Amino acid sequence: MPFQDLRSYLNELREKSMLVDVNAQVDPDLELTHILSEELRIGKKRTIVFNDVKGSSIPVAGNLFGDWERMKMVLGDEPINIGNHLLELVQVPSDTDSMMSKGLKMFRELGGIRPKVHNDLGSDHVDAGKPDLLQYPICRTWPKDGGKYITLPLVITKDPVSGNRNVGMYRLQLYDSETLGMHWQIHKGGAENYDRQKERSKPLDVAVVLGTDPLNIFSAVAPLPNGLDEFSFAGLISRDRVDLAKGSTVNLEYPSNSEIVLEGYVDPSESRIEGPFGDHTGYYSLEEEFPVLHVKKVFQRKKPIYPTTIVGKLWHEDVILGKAVERMFLPIIKFQIPEIVDLNTMEEAVFHNMVIVSIRKRYPGQAKKVMFALWGLGQLMFSKIIVVVDDDIDVHDRKQVIWAMSTRIDPDRDVFTVKGTVTDSLDHASPIFNYGSKMGIDATRKGASEGYMRRWPETMQMPPEVVESVKKRWSALGL
Ligand SMILES: Cc1cc2nc3c(=O)[nH]c(=O)nc-3n(C[C@H](O)[C@H](O)[C@H](O)COP(=O)(O)O)c2cc1C
Repeated sequence: MPFQDLRSYLNELREKSMLVDVNAQVDPDLELTHILSEELRIGKKRTIVFNDVKGSSIPVAGNLFGDWERMKMVLGDEPINIGNHLLELVQVPSDTDSMMSKGLKMFRELGGIRPKVHNDLGSDHVDAGKPDLLQYPICRTWPKDGGKYITLPLVITKDPVSGNRNVGMYRLQLYDSETLGMHWQIHKGGAENYDRQKERSKPLDVAVVLGTDPLNIFSAVAPLPNGLDEFSFAGLISRDRVDLAKGSTVNLEYPSNSEIVLEGYVDPSESRIEGPFGDHTGYYSLEEEFPVLHVKKVFQRKKPIYPTTIVGKLWHEDVILGKAVERMFLPIIKFQIPEIVDLNTMEEAVFHNMVIVSIRKRYPGQAKKVMFALWGLGQLMFSKIIVVVDDDIDVHDRKQVIWAMSTRIDPDRDVFTVKGTVTDSLDHASPIFNYGSKMGIDATRKGASEGYMRRWPETMQMPPEVVESVKKRWSALGL
């Protein structure tokens, strides 16, 4: 792995002056998270380790993914290069020879990513005795939050039928020394495993990891299809196998380098109000019923470090994570929807709420075809507004996008809504929790078969020879 564990990542950041230690006492009630927020807002963006947190003997690490440089350190490469490599693995060459060598390459690579499973965590860890969640420096991030929340956990479950493992990042609300609110949204892998177990009316084993190497943390956020193991995905990115330890009271495995592990269960017959929580959207997510996690056993490093994050109005580190996900998965998205040239899940729109896509348009109705394909593709199902532009528009240049949106649409013809669709659980504007509508904006040039009977005007371009000659004469003109 690029980093053996959380502490070796922190040490390297410290050596590179990308981390600052705060030794003065800090309050986990709002103060700590506001400091993390301010560090990002003023543009310093360093990782911060708080060594003296009021009410706890455990240090807190925050802003782990504060900028693109750190994201690349964690991933070992630019996300798009990793995406291209993932694509190479799934593409099938046409001639027999290269098919065989490709098969061998795939066999070697995929064979080398399966996690290594050990019987236990080893001597670095101790049994923390009777669970006491109140001893951890769990923060309240925003003033009207319903309480304290664990914000950077890896939640591990298994599909009771297939046995496939899922690792997702779902916040956990602290209720008391042994219970947490489990905020896995209905569309996510953990919730799907829970629903399967509900059919059996049996509790579902859950393990929660607080602090592990940053690549495993990233993998928990990655929108992998259910059934694809996040720890194997981390192995695929790092080309190194993740070491896992077997749970002691749960039929689950978790990283051997975990700082703190909570073992427990959710009972399908039980739910409780979770929230409100100051969320990625910049609003407090409303209270809703969610399952309850009962913690039965805790293991931890002898001197554990607790990781945290704050989400909220722009800009927080979830923006870096989201952009890394977008760039990494773009090659795979383009493989499935080949007319796509580029895509921008916009951070100002909380990623899902507005997605700009450029396409190489060849036939009428193609923009709509792309929209519906995206609405059916993994977590892109949450995209509330999709804007499709032609490939002369740079989707990352807001000015170009607004220009295309305002000059290439006839609202009556090119803007439409779809009723009765999936919505993101965090979309408070939808009339019903998890259910609402979508908007498509086709900002591509139109032809006759799309009802445009006039002549589409050309955009202006200066001839290259004029551009070149002016460039050469620039200083001679006294400019
Ligand atoms: C900081 C952070 C907090 C998140 N909190 C939640 C959450 O509380 N509930 C949730 O369903 N998804 C949350 N997510 C998004 C999921 O982690 C993400 O959708 C992931 O792909 C889910 O994995 P899964 O498909 O295996 O369930 C969060 C993401 C980040 C970066």
